[in-house]
Amino acid sequence: MGLPAIFAVAVMVAIVMVASPCAEAKTTIEPCSGSDSCPALLGYTLYADMKVSEVAALFAADPSALLAANALDFAAPGAAHRILPMGLFLRVPTACACADGVRKSVAVRYAARPADTLATVADVVFAGLASADQIRGANGLADADADAPLDAGQRLVVPLPCVCFNSSDSNLPAVYLSYVVQVGDTVPAIAAAYETTVTDIMNVNAMGSPVAAPGDILAIPLPACASSFPKTASDHGLLVANGTYALTAGNCVQCSCGPGNLNLYCTPASLSRSCPSTQCSNSNVLLGNASTHATSAGCNVSSCSYGGFVNGTITTLLNTGLQPTCPGNSCC
Ligand SMILES: *[C@@H]1O[C@H](CO)[C@@H](O)[C@H](O)[C@H]1NC(C)=O
Ligand SMILES: *[C@@H]1O[C@H](CO)[C@@H](O)[C@H](O)[C@H]1NC(C)=O
Ligand SMILES: *[C@@H]1O[C@H](CO)[C@@H](O)[C@H](O)[C@H]1NC(C)=O
Ligand SMILES: *[C@@H]1O[C@H](CO)[C@@H](O)[C@H](O)[C@H]1NC(C)=O
Ligand SMILES: *[C@@H]1O[C@H](CO)[C@@H](O)[C@H](O)[C@H]1NC(C)=O
Repeated sequence: MGLPAIFAVAVMVAIVMVASPCAEAKTTIEPCSGSDSCPALLGYTLYADMKVSEVAALFAADPSALLAANALDFAAPGAAHRILPMGLFLRVPTACACADGVRKSVAVRYAARPADTLATVADVVFAGLASADQIRGANGLADADADAPLDAGQRLVVPLPCVCFNSSDSNLPAVYLSYVVQVGDTVPAIAAAYETTVTDIMNVNAMGSPVAAPGDILAIPLPACASSFPKTASDHGLLVANGTYALTAGNCVQCSCGPGNLNLYCTPASLSRSCPSTQCSNSNVLLGNASTHATSAGCNVSSCSYGGFVNGTITTLLNTGLQPTCPGNSCC
C-alpha cells in the first residue's frame, strides 16, 4: 500500500502531505518510531442522530471522556444516553499510536451492517476520517470493490489519521485535531475558527499554499494544558485542550484547561463512584482546593494539586506558601 515510499519521503522532510492513491485527498503524516502513543483528537461530524454511547463505541472511546473533551456535561445522570443531533461536530479523544512508521489511531474495529460498503464506511460512518483504500489495506482486502456490499458482521480495522508532533506547537503545549476539510471551508476560516493563524496551519501541514480541498485532512494545533506526572503514572503525558476537560484516575479526577490560563487544574470528579482518597496527605485539603489561615507573618496558603495516578493511588502535592494577606481579609 505504498507505505515504504511514504516513509522514505517522510524521513527526509519530517512532515509531508501525501496524496492517497485513489482520491485527491491529502493527509498530514507524522513519521514515528517506537511504540509509545500520545493523545490526539479526531474531528467527527455525526452522520445521524446518535447516542453519546454509540459515538463512543464507534471510536472505542469512553462516553464520559468523549463528553469531557467537548466540554459537555459528563456528570449529568444518563449523560451517556443523551442523543446528539446529526451534523454535530465532535472532538473524539484518541490514543495516537505508532504503526508502520507513522502516527495513526489503530484501536477502532467496526462491525459491518447490512448494505455497508467500504466506501460508505469510510465516507459516511467515519465521515471521511478514513478512506476505502486505507481500510482495504489495513484488512488485507486488496481486491475488494469499494462499492460492493460487505458481509454483515464482518469486522474491519479502521485506521484513523492523527499526529502529535511532540504535543507542542511553536514550543507551547498543543493537542492536534484531525480535521476533515468540508465543502465551503477555506484555510483562513478554519484558522479563525480554531483561533490559530493561516501560517501556523501551513507550517504544521507543510502546505505550499493556503489552499485545502474538501476531503483533505488537516492537523489543527489546539492550545492545551500539559501535565508533568512522572513516567510511573498511568496518566503520564495527560494533555487537555483549552476550554475542555479530561477524566483520569479511573474517572475519579477531572482536569480542566483554561480559559484564563493554560495551567492544568484538577479536582475530584463529580461522577458518583467509589474512589480512592482525593485529600492531600498530612492536611485536610482536597484536590484542587486551598486552605488559608492568617499568621503573624502573613497568610499561610496550602493548596492541593494532582500529581498523577500511580499504582491505583491518586498522587497529591501540597504546596504551602506565605502571601501578604489572606484573600477576603481586608487586614493582617
Ligand atoms: C519534545 O518536547 C520536549 C518537552 O516538551 C522537549 O524536551 C524535546 O526536545 C522535544 N522534542 C522534539 C523532537 O521536539
Ligand atoms: C482559551 O480559550 C479562551 C476562550 O474559551 C480564549 O479566550 C483564550 O484566549 C484561549 N487561550 C489560548 C492560549 O488560546
Ligand atoms: C474548598 O474548601 C472550602 C472550605 O473547606 C469549601 O467550602 C469549598 O467548597 C471547597 N471547594 C471545593 C471546590 O472543593
Ligand atoms: C502553613 O501551613 C502548613 C499546613 O497547614 C504548615 O505545615 C506550615 O508549617 C505553615 N507555615 C507557616 C509559616 O505557618
Ligand atoms: C506498585 O505496586 C507494586 C506492588 O504493590 C510495587 O511492587 C511497585 O513498586 C509499585 N510501583 C510504584 C511505581 O509505586
